[in-house]
Amino acid sequence: MSTSIFSKTVFTSNYERMTGNCTRIVAAQMVRIKSPPITSSSYVLDNACGPGIVTEQVKLLHPEAKILATDLSPNMIEELQKRIENNKWSNVKTDTLDVRDLSKLADKTFTHVLTNMGIYMPNDPTSSLQAIKEMYRILQFGGTAVTSMWADRVWLSAFSRAALMIRPLEEPSNMLNVEPEVLRGSWLLKQIEDGGFGNNAEVRPFATSVSAISLDELVDNMMLAAPMLLKGYSEEELSRARPILKEEFTKLRTYEALEGGAVRIGMKAWIGVGWKKGDEKEVPT
Ligand SMILES: C[S@@+](CC[C@H](N)C(=O)[O-])C[C@H]1O[C@@H](n2cnc3c(N)ncnc32)[C@H](O)[C@@H]1O
Repeated sequence: MSTSIFSKTVFTSNYERMTGNCTRIVAAQMVRIKSPPITSSSYVLDNACGPGIVTEQVKLLHPEAKILATDLSPNMIEELQKRIENNKWSNVKTDTLDVRDLSKLADKTFTHVLTNMGIYMPNDPTSSLQAIKEMYRILQFGGTAVTSMWADRVWLSAFSRAALMIRPLEEPSNMLNVEPEVLRGSWLLKQIEDGGFGNNAEVRPFATSVSAISLDELVDNMMLAAPMLLKGYSEEELSRARPILKEEFTKLRTYEALEGGAVRIGMKAWIGVGWKKGDEKEVPT
């Protein structure tokens, strides 16, 4: 089964270029959870790990922490395996697992379950709730689930405008679209509450960005999304898309040119936390 738009080989090797640090910045915040903090004796699940962005952030802080990193895409797991070897990370295991069905993992196993941009599947409306239920089940009592979701993806509108300029009579791709409701913090909070954490849940906004060392590089990196967003375009159309995107990026409300030529496009994420304490079923009065 592959429901993932990220599971294609072309995005696996280029994942880090395409995301331009936007998930890494969120991961760096997620691993700094304060109550309870991740320590060298924690057992962390990096759920929907991609190439191990959360794993990397945990290892930077706590090289000894025990981690299981799982993803549905074997290509992502392969990429992570290479990173584990290159970085000589100890105590990291991997598996190819679906966030909606972690039945291979026993109840009450982990101190922390971190899922960075991995609970929502556009073609499966129940995926997020199912994923949170699984996260709750495999957490130890006293453990914490940290889950992120996008609040916006500002750069997507530049692709839509570029597509309309090149093919004015065609609806731009909706492949990465999500229901506006899903981009609300209240949506993520409801998933965490209903997934088992009840009143032991909270959601906060967090600012991140997609960045590159130059505007040209940003365009090159983001063009890696062309197989999804400009699907079926000819080479000639794709070459016309580049200068249009370059200009459209600079018009975005969160575009910033930084010192030294680097650029970034700001984005907003939600970070939700659920604490498994044992009193989740208590009805708030
Ligand atoms: C946006 S990426 C996030 C990757 C990583 N967590 C990060 O911080 O960058 C989403 C990841 O979810 C994975 N994925 C998609 N559907 C999945 C599923 N049902 N179960 C597990 N992983 C899934 C994709 O293969 C991809 O690696």
